[in-house]
Amino acid sequence: MPANDSLPALSVADALRRRRSIRAFTGQPVDPAVLKQVFADAQRAPSGGNLQPWQVTVLTGEPWQRVKDAVAARIAMGRDGQQPEYDIYPRGLTDPWESRRFGVGEALYASLGIPREDKRGRLARFMDNYRGFDAPVMLFLHCSRIMGPPQWSDMGMWLQSVMLLLVEQGLASCPQECWAMYGQTVREALGLAEDQILFTGLAIGYADEGQAVNQGTVPRVGLDEVIDWQGF
Ligand SMILES: Cc1cc2nc3c(=O)[nH]c(=O)nc-3n(C[C@H](O)[C@H](O)[C@H](O)COP(=O)(O)O)c2cc1C
Repeated sequence: MPANDSLPALSVADALRRRRSIRAFTGQPVDPAVLKQVFADAQRAPSGGNLQPWQVTVLTGEPWQRVKDAVAARIAMGRDGQQPEYDIYPRGLTDPWESRRFGVGEALYASLGIPREDKRGRLARFMDNYRGFDAPVMLFLHCSRIMGPPQWSDMGMWLQSVMLLLVEQGLASCPQECWAMYGQTVREALGLAEDQILFTGLAIGYADEGQAVNQGTVPRVGLDEVIDWQGF
């Protein structure tokens, strides 16, 4: 049951259909008891060998502001000397994946009325990422550097579990791997141990539904592009 029992319970399919990446939040704070229930339920996410490799830092208020300030100061210094935690996309990404990546960016900026030529306008909106789209809560998902692709996939399962449970609670979220561009700065601001690698942020709060950036649903390719049925 949702921790907030004034909300109707959703089916898994309903939660999946409702979840979208939300990029504008109201200032409404999030009840920590609700978050605690979400994380307790998300602990049921499966992981190979039950390693449960996910490690999580959740922030609000002053500690969250400190991370934003640290990253803003680092961005102001330019990109020199700052290595991303990992290749966010494969180098030399080809189709069909490159078109999908390009398409979602174009759709997002079109919804905001920012044309391709307006590079400054697009950059300014991209930089909203580094305020967590003004979400009141930010979650950073990290793990030990010894973990490999199977454990990173486990982190993804945990992340999706959290996002769906948030939907059930009437909350919204946006996963944000952009923080990995400034991973060292984020890790230092969080006081993470040396062995940790930052995977992604997750902005959490209540959706500001009136904002253009929150309108629309990102399409998916058809099943014929991803599933090869055999023996049916
Ligand atoms: C691990 C992960 C990292 C992401 N990082 C970002 C990000 O840094 N900034 C952003 O605006 N969206 C980010 N997204 C959101 C994707 O663009 C989004 O999930 C995709 O376009 C599908 O849209 P939907 O989530 O609304 O269904 C990320 C999604 C995932 C799963």
